[in-house]
Amino acid sequence: MNAHPASPTSDTPPCAELHVHIEGTLEPELIYALAERNRIELSYADIDDLRARYEFDDLQSFLDLYYANMSVLRTAADFADLARAYFSRAARAGVRHAELFFDPQAHLARGVPLVSIVEGLAGAIATSEAEFGMSSALIACFLRDRPAAEAVEVLRELLTMDAPIIGIGLDSAEAGHPPEDFVDVYALADANGLRRVAHAGEEGPADYVRSATTVLGVERVDHGVRSLEDPALVSLLARNRIPLTVCPLSNVRLKVVARIEEHPLPAMLAAGLAVTVNSDDPAYFGGYVDDNYRALAAAFGWGSGELANLARTSIEASFVEPTRRAELLREIDEWERASDGV
Ligand code: ADE
Ligand code: ZN
Repeated sequence: MNAHPASPTSDTPPCAELHVHIEGTLEPELIYALAERNRIELSYADIDDLRARYEFDDLQSFLDLYYANMSVLRTAADFADLARAYFSRAARAGVRHAELFFDPQAHLARGVPLVSIVEGLAGAIATSEAEFGMSSALIACFLRDRPAAEAVEVLRELLTMDAPIIGIGLDSAEAGHPPEDFVDVYALADANGLRRVAHAGEEGPADYVRSATTVLGVERVDHGVRSLEDPALVSLLARNRIPLTVCPLSNVRLKVVARIEEHPLPAMLAAGLAVTVNSDDPAYFGGYVDDNYRALAAAFGWGSGELANLARTSIEASFVEPTRRAELLREIDEWERASDGV
């Protein structure tokens, strides 16, 4: 397949996606296809019965389904197919660079060898630019509701096998699991030259955003929407230009906010925060990154100027190398000019 840069006349800008869990891109059709391939009996009556369960009360109710559906991912080929399906859909959404989260512990706990997970994902990211015109990278996330010592053990294994990860993250059930519990794994990552990000301030308090930055030394905060509850923290994030990877449709579906019109993203921008737009778990939350941009445009009356600025921040907040960064920023300028001219 040839590279297809986002069309300058698409209604959403070319961008980077910095907050997407590859396991959260597992669409119902692929769940069924992989279950058949791996001869796994699903507990749902049919695909419509599965789809009927995509109603969530909070983060935990989503995580229960998210982890259950991962049972179909068994082999390196499954992980490669999953990533390629995401690249294919995300390319249509205008994603030109993607930094993919994956949850090694969620698969190790089911008996899937680390080498299968890494081999499958690494194979897909190695060819994403040639196949989909999208540069990509992997960030290993640790599950904050599992022991911190286990995270260290898994990172050591990833380092030993020379897994092509650019960084580490922290995800899963947030409340009651503060970032500072994971100081050892973040120190190990730092000592090995890895980038550091963490989920904080999604359901957890603003204090978790503060300790993610001050104790773990994260360079980006995933979600961080509750930061606004602490004005001193907002100043700290703005002053140090620490980006927040915000996921508007996820926040609505997990009831972090009641309606998209009440999303704090405009207030975050007004406070001077570096905010990016992302899909989180698009198969579960009703939209890929383009749907998130569109939802914001509709809710807040934004046009190409506002969307282009959000897309620029996504490139600036990414860990992409400088030549590609400059190329992608030029694409956004071109998109904005074309959008203004039509
Ligand atoms: N894992 C996958 N999606 C997540 C989210 N939105 N918050 C925390 N952990 C997650
Ligand atoms: Zn997330």
